[in-house]
Amino acid sequence: MVKIITVDGPSGAGKGTTSRRLAKKLGFHYLDSGALYRLLGMVAARHRVNTSDNKNLVPLARNMDIQFETTRAGEIRILLEGEDVTMELRTEQTATLASQVASHLEVREALLVRQRRFATLPGLVADGRDMGTVVFPDAQLKLYLTASIEERARRRYKQLLDKGESVSLRALESQVRARDERDINRDISPLVAASDAIEIDTSELSINEVLDAVLNIVLLKGLM
Ligand code: C5P
Repeated sequence: MVKIITVDGPSGAGKGTTSRRLAKKLGFHYLDSGALYRLLGMVAARHRVNTSDNKNLVPLARNMDIQFETTRAGEIRILLEGEDVTMELRTEQTATLASQVASHLEVREALLVRQRRFATLPGLVADGRDMGTVVFPDAQLKLYLTASIEERARRRYKQLLDKGESVSLRALESQVRARDERDINRDISPLVAASDAIEIDTSELSINEVLDAVLNIVLLKGLM
């Protein structure tokens, strides 16, 4: 049986790093579902399809030509139509496009099939907003990571600065807040903790502390 661990929560809560490290530690596959929505946002912009035009977004979601590769150094490289878009994918502009395309039911259904294909042996760590509620409701372990808005904006700020993007902390905080609101208040698959999810507030924790807490839970659940 494929073991599935879901990690949901808002942007900047530490889901990405925690999920990638957890997957590596357990030898599981990793699904970055946010990357699928980001890729769709980018494809839409490239093909001049408006992010509100759900009819024309669906074929793009079904057919977009994407690849996830792991480099020898263990880094994940993401290719769109054969081109390395790993850096462009992480900008806050792409994140905003992602959360706009993500609000359409038909788009989410089209991406659901692609996401479930990642669940292969021995197991999967699935990172996103609706992994535990919609995509993998039968997951053996569901985690929900949160942190205060100020801390999450600060983390995103640092990540973007490290990548050489120039941003203002205040502008970023309002973008993160707007994206949270869109994700929490949408009708379809809103960002919410599954009723059986274990919640971890990471505001005061280092990434190693978060990983240790998660590994303890994984151990207690008999998943390693
Ligand atoms: O996780 P990440 O910041 O890359 O996600 C970008 C956007 O994609 C989110 O703000 C959200 O709107 C959307 N998303 C989603 N469902 C997921 C993952 C991401 O709606 N499972």
